[in-house]
Amino acid sequence: MTDPAPAQAMAAQLKWWQKGIIYQIYPRSFQDSTGDGVGDLRGITARLPYLKSLGVEAAWLSPIFTSPMHDFGYDVADYCDIDPLFGTLDDFDALVQEAHGLGLKVMLDYVPNHSSADHAWFQEALKGKGSEKRDWYVWRDPGPDGGLPNNWKSFFGGPAWTLDEASGQYYLHQFLPSQPDLNWRNPAVREAMFDVLRFWMRRGVDGFRVDVIWLLAEDERFLDEPVNPEWLPGDIEHNSVQHIYTQDQPETHQYIREMRAVLDEFEDRMMVGEIYLPVEQLLPYAGTEDAAMVHLPFNFHLILRPWQAQAVREFADSYDAACLKIGTWPNWVLGNHDQHRFKSRVGAAQYRVAQTLLLTLRGTPTVYYGDEIGMDNVRIPLERMVDPAGLQQPDSPAASRDPERTPMQWDATANAGFSPAAATPWLPLADDYQTTNVQAQQADPHSDLSYFRALTALRQQHPALVGGAYHSVDSGHEDVFAFRRSLGGETLTILLNFGAGEHVLGDVAAGHTLLSSRNDQPRSGAGLRPNEARIILT
Ligand code: NOJ
Repeated sequence: MTDPAPAQAMAAQLKWWQKGIIYQIYPRSFQDSTGDGVGDLRGITARLPYLKSLGVEAAWLSPIFTSPMHDFGYDVADYCDIDPLFGTLDDFDALVQEAHGLGLKVMLDYVPNHSSADHAWFQEALKGKGSEKRDWYVWRDPGPDGGLPNNWKSFFGGPAWTLDEASGQYYLHQFLPSQPDLNWRNPAVREAMFDVLRFWMRRGVDGFRVDVIWLLAEDERFLDEPVNPEWLPGDIEHNSVQHIYTQDQPETHQYIREMRAVLDEFEDRMMVGEIYLPVEQLLPYAGTEDAAMVHLPFNFHLILRPWQAQAVREFADSYDAACLKIGTWPNWVLGNHDQHRFKSRVGAAQYRVAQTLLLTLRGTPTVYYGDEIGMDNVRIPLERMVDPAGLQQPDSPAASRDPERTPMQWDATANAGFSPAAATPWLPLADDYQTTNVQAQQADPHSDLSYFRALTALRQQHPALVGGAYHSVDSGHEDVFAFRRSLGGETLTILLNFGAGEHVLGDVAAGHTLLSSRNDQPRSGAGLRPNEARIILT
């Protein structure tokens, strides 16, 4: 065996956001310390040792700022304060201090594309065309027919324009009418929003997840977007047009370069951008050495593509190569607060295959809370649905994001240890919480949680899994994706069986098994069993 020390040193040169795992917390659903049925900052702070025990590097908190909560915090009424539902600035400072003491980084969700209509800036803008903040938002006169300025659509259904009757003008909102788009063309808006970043970085925040960063600018001509010929009635309305004027505009790239310069005023900070685009348009968001943009452009393609061995291999090969070509660090995501739980998507049998893939591909993994214990989508009865994306689009039931936002399952007591027993959690708990919970899985060496920890422990012990080169190998079987990670003379082979058949792999599988998703140590050369994931020291 080779000496891992030099490899360890090579992997150690990576930045924290390259070598570590980002863990996304949806604060409403993590831990309720007050008994109001909604999670909060003190709850999160109390659970930080759990995060540490998972072997993750950073906690990203979905928005915790002052908000009327029409979009559960993605409608910010004060960018520099904490919503009382979650706590206070003092609670936040305590959280950061505790996290840093444990060696964990803290990332916030920065929502620059739109504010809440309750924000003082928008309230001022509503005073009329002469308001000093009028141009902080995007206003248009009615179209030639006296109606909407153009055919732009909101992500949540309906037009992206709402009439302000007092002035006779429409304002733009790519999401709810209560989420007016900020006008990033106005330098004063950019400066104010950059000061928000400085405010939090001075408080010790290590990084940001940037909400819908690819939507910041719109084409100035305000032309109709072309109709999408592939759209079928029943699909969400937002997809009925092609977003050539509202997404991925050249000006957006410039604004992100400016944003990055603000981050670079501070040491060792990072940002990861939420961007749903094909790889050719996605990777340029990393910028270049001379004109850097986001550190990581979120790669959602494992969510968006079919769950098949060859399709995943093809994507992983091309994405890894594309990242190498432009010198960008890769990243991988299986779930977040906008996407159905990955276990529900790929099926229970494939759950560990997917988890293994996420934590062994080259690049930073982002893990959504609860995925480490195998939380599933929770069916939410219509009368308990609260997500505006679902409520506004009753014809597209899958649009609701409530099923993936349910309370964390800590133990088998009432309310799963999320809220005190007397409370009513803001969303219903999963039916299976008495068996699928942290406490039960902690005690079981064969549980999903133990498997997750075994994977993160392997990442610590084998730097090749973190910093090593990636290349896929022919497994000889349609259903088996096999790849190697190599660094400093050490090579690990990852075998993933996407199917229900057993396969003998020969030389590809030679070596000593370090971990099998089947909780045992199969001999070298043994067949890869149905739905098995195996990591081999080659
Ligand atoms: C993307 C966020 O992830 C989503 O939850 C939110 O509804 C929209 N942006 C609007 O901010």
